[in-house]
Amino acid sequence: MLNGKNIIIGVTGSIAAYKAALLIRLLVKQGANVRVIMTPDAHDFITPLTLATLSKSQVLSSFIANSETGVWNNHVDLGLWADAMLIAPATANTLAKMANGLCDNLLLATYLSARCKVLVAPAMDFDMYKHPSTQQNLKTLQAHNVTIIPAESGELASGLEGEGRLAEPETILHYLYIAFQEQSLKGKKILISAGPTYEAIDPVRYIGNHSSGKMGIALAHAAAYKGAEVCLVCGPTKENIQNNLLHKIIHITSAKEMTEACFQESQNADIIIMSAAVADYAPKSVASEKIKKQSTQMHIELEATTDILAHLGNHKKVNQILVGFALETENEKKNALKKLDKKNLDIIVLNSLKDKEAGFSYDTNRVQLFFANNKSIQFELKPKVELAYDILHEIENLLV
Ligand code: CTP
Repeated sequence: MLNGKNIIIGVTGSIAAYKAALLIRLLVKQGANVRVIMTPDAHDFITPLTLATLSKSQVLSSFIANSETGVWNNHVDLGLWADAMLIAPATANTLAKMANGLCDNLLLATYLSARCKVLVAPAMDFDMYKHPSTQQNLKTLQAHNVTIIPAESGELASGLEGEGRLAEPETILHYLYIAFQEQSLKGKKILISAGPTYEAIDPVRYIGNHSSGKMGIALAHAAAYKGAEVCLVCGPTKENIQNNLLHKIIHITSAKEMTEACFQESQNADIIIMSAAVADYAPKSVASEKIKKQSTQMHIELEATTDILAHLGNHKKVNQILVGFALETENEKKNALKKLDKKNLDIIVLNSLKDKEAGFSYDTNRVQLFFANNKSIQFELKPKVELAYDILHEIENLLV
């Protein structure tokens, strides 16, 4: 998403300046062209050599590039070159200067010249962060269309605990994704289910499946980047979920819990995407104590769980869009179309377990979309994070 984007990273004098190195590495890895501007004080915390090496470009920190030849660093050109400007870490001092139009270093001059999206990630001590002056400066910057990446809570360099820590590089990256995303789902409420369900047999055992949750979580993040208000109902997963991006996350374990959460959250949803691998059957009763080994065979009586998607399809609201997933191992198309019709869906996303590097646990997937209006689209094998955008794009086309 950041491939080929021109990004200025401003680094100011904070102990968190070391995190700028990690951030720059992440950006360069994603194909972004990074130019770093340091304030004079930032040099006390990290060397230009480190940031120049990681950004693969000379670090700028003063107006004068070469005093002998009279060459200067043109802040106007820099500001126009950038697709985004991100100041991380941003100290209380730099925020105050930005908010008030001060211009006593190259970073501030570039900020005032930049026409692109600007983001700041504050980092400072708890009391400085909470000080009314700093909070007022943040409000002023927000009013000037600057995106504030909230400082996180935790142990601070001063030894104090509280808000003021620079957001983690991965979190900052997500804010950049949003900055480059068209907000085409703004105002839409989306319910997404993801991951497996675990059906308890006794206190230590369960019936589950291999779903990783990757596809549903990628959809949830992508929808949030596009401005949607996302509620994610998620089964057990090891995947990283960007909590601060999503409106609501409901962690569930069983099909019953997923049913309750989805029924509740579906009421106001404009779009519902059921990508979870919900168990079709669950033990009829759960043993209260661990079941001891007895004979050579054992039987567990199972009963059907609620088909959440079928229920939502039967009670579909006017203009609500319903998307289901189908995982098939044979007669793929026929089975998928049957589910599309039976569950009253607008789109069904078909995964075939026969495809290599597609389906459960893989980071990539190859899917085919079937629409209620008989249209169908086959997508190439691609990362689930990219596929999420393709699926959302098709959903957007159905919105009235
Ligand atoms: N689904 C659901 N509730 C269930 C089972 C499935 O909401 N109890 C949803 C899934 O999230 C998915 C779709 O229904 O979006 C299809 O799931 P799948 O397991 O492929 O199909 P089933 O309808 O369960 O049929 P079968 O297992 O026989 O293929």
